[in-house]
Amino acid sequence: MTATAPRRDYSLDGEESVRAVERGLADGDWFHATIDPQRLRELSIRTNRRAAVDTALWFGLAIGLGVLAWSVRWTWWAVPAFLVYGAVVGGSSDARWHECGHGTAFKTGWLNDLVYYPTSFMIAREATLWRWSHFRHHTDTIVVGRDPEIIFPRPPSLGQAVLAFSNVKGGPTLMAGTARHAFGRLDPTTRILVPESDHRRVVWEARVYVAIWATAVVWALASWSIHPVLLIGGPTIYGAWLMVFFGITQHAGLKEDVLDHRHSTRTVHMNPVFRFLYLNMNYHVEHHMFPAVPYHRLPELHAEIADQLPAPLPSTAAAYREIFHAIRQQHDDPSWELDRRVPDVPGMPGPIVQAFDWPSDGRVRLPVQLEPGEVKAIEVAGRAVLLARDALGTLHAVDRICTHGDADLAEGLVIGCEIECPKHNGRFDLVTGAGTRRPIRESLDVHSITELDGGEVEVQINSRSSVSGAST
Ligand code: FES
Repeated sequence: MTATAPRRDYSLDGEESVRAVERGLADGDWFHATIDPQRLRELSIRTNRRAAVDTALWFGLAIGLGVLAWSVRWTWWAVPAFLVYGAVVGGSSDARWHECGHGTAFKTGWLNDLVYYPTSFMIAREATLWRWSHFRHHTDTIVVGRDPEIIFPRPPSLGQAVLAFSNVKGGPTLMAGTARHAFGRLDPTTRILVPESDHRRVVWEARVYVAIWATAVVWALASWSIHPVLLIGGPTIYGAWLMVFFGITQHAGLKEDVLDHRHSTRTVHMNPVFRFLYLNMNYHVEHHMFPAVPYHRLPELHAEIADQLPAPLPSTAAAYREIFHAIRQQHDDPSWELDRRVPDVPGMPGPIVQAFDWPSDGRVRLPVQLEPGEVKAIEVAGRAVLLARDALGTLHAVDRICTHGDADLAEGLVIGCEIECPKHNGRFDLVTGAGTRRPIRESLDVHSITELDGGEVEVQINSRSSVSGAST
């Protein structure tokens, strides 16, 4: 590294954080590839069956390997057995944590949570804290001072990479942070990311984690054996290399501070075994652009928009060659950037909006033909309104702009009687407007709507009303 190489401040409360806001990089307006909205809705549909099969296979693998490792624990076979078990539990649990955190693995919300919480524990990520961390990662991907999930701050070094792979620093650091949270001591980063209404939840989740780790340690001491710790808690450290192995391919070495995932994120073709362990997150540009699409439809999404993206890396090895080259260059010159060929195409146009002047009686009449699951965007004297027909066929009218981060719900997905935001998978009840899934904390205004004869509807625009939080 040159003696004068500038070191940027990656903390969330430092000078780079202020600069990111000043430069318009915080909660910015991101490029999205163009795709037919109907096709995108089709690709975003979830089923329980596919995720149930994949999850059962994965848990079966983890439990089977655990039983195997335990049964040979006093032999040398225990070494490879625990290494493989650790990689599955402490490494590939990351992909399950991630997909279920987005709520896109299963169609049924509680099934996502059922997998999300244990997999959060397996990688020592406090469930609520890391949910909020990941919302921020999607809002401000690889924006310095805003994104808490940047693995390689510049200038990167080989030592950093080795530490990341072994997790001998990251794992204990996470565990120590959890222990502090268990005593109610929340650090500044946690306070920035997590709204106050969730602080108690963070503390109690930390206590549960610490209690489980403590049980494993007591068991190990009582049996005078390290095996209980290798089984519970230990994989977070000695098995995390697999999580890092995949995770590094997502953004390492690519551009910082750019509102276009094609420059900051990497798509890599991987073999079927890797794709199973990693739940197709190798299609990472696609995932960041359209996080509503579940993991098993990402290859199809890739095929739809590939001509608007940089060429994917042909293999994991090719991705690592690119990453090591970038790390070497950025070690000497932190401002060095990979020169990717990004197609010069216009981004996805916003939804078609039918505009109206403010009617004297607050009622708007218009012809509407919507099938279940379809939406229509209107604007009444500047007020953005969404008309949506739910899965049961009932028509609803609610405000159109997400109360969390200004995303347009006309680009969202109707699921049952809810609308899911396209940006962070937050959800609103279409009947009441209430938030039903984090990160939503403020409800949408609801407008009354009446279906008239002849395919017309009448919408009565309401004044502002209630506020409510997400229930999950
Ligand atoms: S913008 Fe974050 S959930 Fe809508």
